[in-house]
Amino acid sequence: MMGEVELHFAYRAGQEEKELVLTGDEHISLLCDHDWMIEAVENIVKNAFDHTEKGNFVWIEWKKSASVVQIIIKDNGSGIQPEDLHHIFKRFYRSRFSKDKQGIGLGLPLAKMIVESHNGTIEVDSTLGAGTTFTLSFLIPTKL
Ligand SMILES: Nc1ncnc2c1ncn2[C@@H]1O[C@H](COP(=O)(O)OP(=O)(O)OP(=O)(O)O)[C@@H](O)[C@H]1O
Ligand SMILES: [Mg+2]
Repeated sequence: MMGEVELHFAYRAGQEEKELVLTGDEHISLLCDHDWMIEAVENIVKNAFDHTEKGNFVWIEWKKSASVVQIIIKDNGSGIQPEDLHHIFKRFYRSRFSKDKQGIGLGLPLAKMIVESHNGTIEVDSTLGAGTTFTLSFLIPTKL
């Protein structure tokens, strides 16, 4: 699935001279709705491309521990303004600092809805001027 996301952005990465890097064990799997999960991840990766510049990186990493599968999307772009951090998952929220970028403010709310409907959580960590990390976590159901 992450390979499909990579393909989707390969051309854009080349055009914008940004590096898209994937890391993860190919044997890790996640029981999910394939198309919706790709939609969620692509919305987050699209934001990463929207808020990085030439020479920047976008990383997609996935890993599995005993009870959790995580997908981590990280960039070393502009970062998110602290005043925006608590609002970015709200529908139609657009930062006053992003008025120059196109968008309607639905990408992250949709991603959150998709992740949560898979019983997952979505967390953001961002440092202004340094970059942003989104972490999607899914509990692996334990067998009874
Ligand atoms: N990786 C990121 N780096 C910096 N800012 C981000 C990043 N991801 C999200 N944001 C901020 O969060 C806001 C909300 O993102 P969201 O994807 O919901 O809407 P949008 O990208 O503005 O519009 P849409 O996705 O509907 O086209 C963005 O406008 C931007 O200000
Ligand atoms: Mg978006």
